[in-house]
Amino acid sequence: MTNDSQSAQSDADRVVIFDTTLRDGEQCPGATMTFEEKLEVAELLDIMGVDIIEAGFPIASEGDFEAVATVANRAKNAVIAGLARAIPADIDRCGQAVKGARRGRIHTFVSTSPIHLAHQMRKSQDEVLEIITATVTQARNLVEDVEWSAMDATRTPIEYLCRCVDAAIAAGATTINLPDTVGYATPQEYRDMFLAVRERVPNSDKAVFSVHCHNDLGLAVANSLAGVAGGARQVECTINGIGERAGNAALEEVVMAIQTRADVLPYHTNIDTTWLSRASRLVSAVTNFPVQYNKAIVGRNAFAHESGIHQDGMLKHTQTYEIMTPESVGVSKTSLVMGKHSGRNAFRSKLKELGYELGDNQFEDAFTRFKALADRKKHVYDEDIEALVDEEIAHMHDRTKVVALTVIAGTMGPQTATLTLDVEGEHRTVQSIGNGPVDATFNAIKEIMPHQGSLQLYQVHAVTQGTDAQAEVSVRLEEDGRTVTGRGADTDTLVASARAYVAAVNKLKLTREKTARAQALG
Ligand code: KIV
Ligand code: ZN
Repeated sequence: MTNDSQSAQSDADRVVIFDTTLRDGEQCPGATMTFEEKLEVAELLDIMGVDIIEAGFPIASEGDFEAVATVANRAKNAVIAGLARAIPADIDRCGQAVKGARRGRIHTFVSTSPIHLAHQMRKSQDEVLEIITATVTQARNLVEDVEWSAMDATRTPIEYLCRCVDAAIAAGATTINLPDTVGYATPQEYRDMFLAVRERVPNSDKAVFSVHCHNDLGLAVANSLAGVAGGARQVECTINGIGERAGNAALEEVVMAIQTRADVLPYHTNIDTTWLSRASRLVSAVTNFPVQYNKAIVGRNAFAHESGIHQDGMLKHTQTYEIMTPESVGVSKTSLVMGKHSGRNAFRSKLKELGYELGDNQFEDAFTRFKALADRKKHVYDEDIEALVDEEIAHMHDRTKVVALTVIAGTMGPQTATLTLDVEGEHRTVQSIGNGPVDATFNAIKEIMPHQGSLQLYQVHAVTQGTDAQAEVSVRLEEDGRTVTGRGADTDTLVASARAYVAAVNKLKLTREKTARAQALG
């Protein structure tokens, strides 16, 4: 779609994109991001045209507050939202966090379904109605832009839901979000709920309606689009669909469905879709959540054609098997071939082509690693560079890093790892044995970085083909109910494993500190 035809579209068909990667996304087990990572993601969301960025839950911890406040101060275009329960202290804290934003929003929510009222809230319907009026009024006294959400809306009787929405709008809510919190609705039900509420609530035209869908039945994107058909004009979603349990609706899927099927979905968004691929890689790198290969829009295979018939068709006319171009989501096909003779300029152009913008120090570190890789590997593919730079970004703020690793493996045993780590500037070396080379390496790390975490996942995959391919390793650890994931890449699988394990333990330490700070705050 051209810009001209976009500007001809009416505002009534504009779907506002509300990204909650930094709040609902970060809330899912293992996806914790550091302060710097959150700023990096927020900056990219702002550049790509996200309308509202939900930057966190300010009352949850000092770290969350700081992240929301800093994103609020730095955002150039987007509205910055913070989440608040229907509790006066939450709303005040949220108001403080977003007050530096050019445009700040308080997003407050309360449960409305019978099961939540009876078992979680232990409140009557009338009590909840009073809470809605009081908390939305309080929020509206702090900011102009207030969103109110009916948690578990899809399991709430429609009459009561309408009374709640009516009360929220009367108290000044400017956006009404009706989430499918537990991912239970079907598209038709979800659309009908919006049609019914908008028709029955007399002042419904005073607010923008919003969808927020979880993916427990794999229907989050379909439900979001159905909600839009029912009159909603805000979609809450996350990059790569990360979020509680099975996740949220994936931003890239919602946006590309609207763009590609304008014939049956007559809406438009403000997203520059050429950033989608970069955003996916960044979120995957900082959360250490791999993107499944066949994931729509941003999966590695999303534009790959393997079968002979498909390849034949593609060579004759790309639209035989492609409904959108890879370029439209930021996947470039014009590849500069990289190797050990490529210099700084070529590397810089390649990074630009792949959608990376690195600071000077980051660039130098990435370039040094690229040269080392090119010395060991004949062909350096785009995927190699992506894996290398993503890892560089993900590990940039790690307090402990792998310096050297030597492993004795093979039939003779005992398998022995000699490992040196840089622990906040100090080099420490240990030697450990184990039941295999990976076990020996992990035991050595544990000696220097003791923890109680249990290994939930150890996964290796080759970034490209060939025996000299880089291995990308994911490690998931669980300690006291907290789950973290670390990722590492190298042509040496054991070095990649060590990097991934160290990254996970670094995150475990951060999560431990975050919890301790939250507990100290009460
Ligand atoms: O899923 C949900 O209901 C939420 C609310 C806090 C909006 O995330
Ligand atoms: Zn949610």
